[in-house]
Amino acid sequence: MYSYKEKYGEYLSRIEARLKKFYEELDCKPDVLDESLKYSLKSGGKRIRPVLMYAAADLLGFDDEALDDYALALELIHTYSLIHDDLPEMDNDDFRRGKPANHKVFGAGNAVLAGDGLLNTAYYILLSHCNDGKHCVDAAKFMCDCAGVKGMIAGQAADIYCAANAVKDGDMLDFIVKNKTGRLLSAAVATPAILSGGRYFVELRQFGEDLGMLFQLTDDVLDERGREDTLGKTTGKDREENKLTYVTFYGVEQCLVYADVLSSKCLGLLEGVGGDTRFLRDIVSFVRYRES
Ligand code: IPE
Ligand code: IPE
Ligand code: MG
Ligand code: MG
Ligand code: MG
Repeated sequence: MYSYKEKYGEYLSRIEARLKKFYEELDCKPDVLDESLKYSLKSGGKRIRPVLMYAAADLLGFDDEALDDYALALELIHTYSLIHDDLPEMDNDDFRRGKPANHKVFGAGNAVLAGDGLLNTAYYILLSHCNDGKHCVDAAKFMCDCAGVKGMIAGQAADIYCAANAVKDGDMLDFIVKNKTGRLLSAAVATPAILSGGRYFVELRQFGEDLGMLFQLTDDVLDERGREDTLGKTTGKDREENKLTYVTFYGVEQCLVYADVLSSKCLGLLEGVGGDTRFLRDIVSFVRYRES
């Protein structure tokens, strides 16, 4: 019998097992590098990107051990983005995943290096599979593109530019959200499509991007209305840092209306995908109503 909670738990255990193997093999010198890498990775988090990757693979009937490495690489990229996002020169956040931010424990220099280290390692993992065939090369390129200067980095650059220059513009806001968050969620669900030969790539890529927009929208609402203990990060920061977010631009009430529009769009996209989409439909609802 299908249960959303059990499925999530199953996917979560799979990525935690791969992460555990990664920590066991990681033996960096100096010790501070080893510790700072592990500190942020071991702090938990929802692991929603790897979970989405496993779910999309299941939907497509793609079952290959290599998927664990793609899921790991994605979580490494995401965790690096959080470490850098919290730096004083970016969002200036002191808490992450319920603990002091990486730079609060190890200092900004080490936090920059921990982030760089996670990103490089992710690329190393992706490159290690490139001899397995063209699909693997395409998947690696797609993930790098989503994370890179035409993806997440572009969104993050626009995010800090708009905050620093008091830009309040709806198109800029969409650009920020689509890139800083939409692209990595898109990578999560479209990578299995590439690895399995391109089936439903277009639909899943769009689904991931829209789910990412919804995810950022609820993140913005939680920054305004959420609880610090459940979120594991400081609230009220977006207003304080003069960020251009859905909440600071439209206000919470309009955001909730837009959240329903985005949810419907995600569900509509899934109608064009064959197979058992129950888990992906349920995750849309999780993202819409999440409290952490
Ligand atoms: C936080 O991502 C950054 C955003 C894109 C909003 P998550 O909410 O997925 O963070 P963790 O991994 O669960 O800590
Ligand atoms: C971050 O968006 C997106 C990233 C790419 C890290 P936020 O800056 O809103 O994420 P939080 O609220 O710090 O987790
Ligand atoms: Mg940010
Ligand atoms: Mg932030
Ligand atoms: Mg936020």
